[in-house]
Amino acid sequence: MLGNKAFKSTLFVGMLTLAGLTLSFQANAACDFVSTKDGSPLVIKAVDTDTPQAKEFLATCVNPYTKAYAKDAEAAKAGKKKFGYYSCTQCHGPNGGGQVGPSITDSTWQYSKHVTDKGIFETIAGGSNGGMFAWHNQLGNPENLATDDILKIVGWLRTQYNGGSEKPWLNETPKK
Ligand code: HEC
Repeated sequence: MLGNKAFKSTLFVGMLTLAGLTLSFQANAACDFVSTKDGSPLVIKAVDTDTPQAKEFLATCVNPYTKAYAKDAEAAKAGKKKFGYYSCTQCHGPNGGGQVGPSITDSTWQYSKHVTDKGIFETIAGGSNGGMFAWHNQLGNPENLATDDILKIVGWLRTQYNGGSEKPWLNETPKK
């Protein structure tokens, strides 16, 4: 039998462990973005107006629209609409095939990380040194894109990919 004191301290240690686990779970439950410009942390926060899909992405680094749109061309049109609405078309062409800006639908990636939805999100959200603006509405202009807008665009761009049969973005697993 444990003495009352020993029992209490066991209980206390147990509670501390639990609190620690909860804390570390919360600390890890966020996708840590880095700037394409200089590798520094790119801070995009979850906000009240975020959709469930945006919240899921910010927690796991997996874009739920990518898999959903791969199976549903009709739903994917929502991403194409955003791509036009925010004038991405001016540089990348109506279907992302490239104009002044590079093609986003072939296998030539400006940065190798663009094969992941996290990586391509980082360039769209935070811009690059090679001519991409920072499009996320948390980084300057509130009229710009919310997390959900960018994710819909990425999901649609993935459906336009014509660079081969390998599509690693369809096999991404949630960050733990
Ligand atoms: C003013 C012209 C311009 C506009 C408008 C523009 N882009 Fe870009 N974009 C570029 C250029 C230039 C690059 C190449 C950047 C680099 O190499 O650093 C690029 C690169 C990209 C890439 C990486 C392509 C690859 O093959 O790796 C993505 C994705 C992208 N843009 C998405 C978008 C989206 C989404 C929008 C609209 C919200 C947009 N762009 C609007 C000029 C533009």
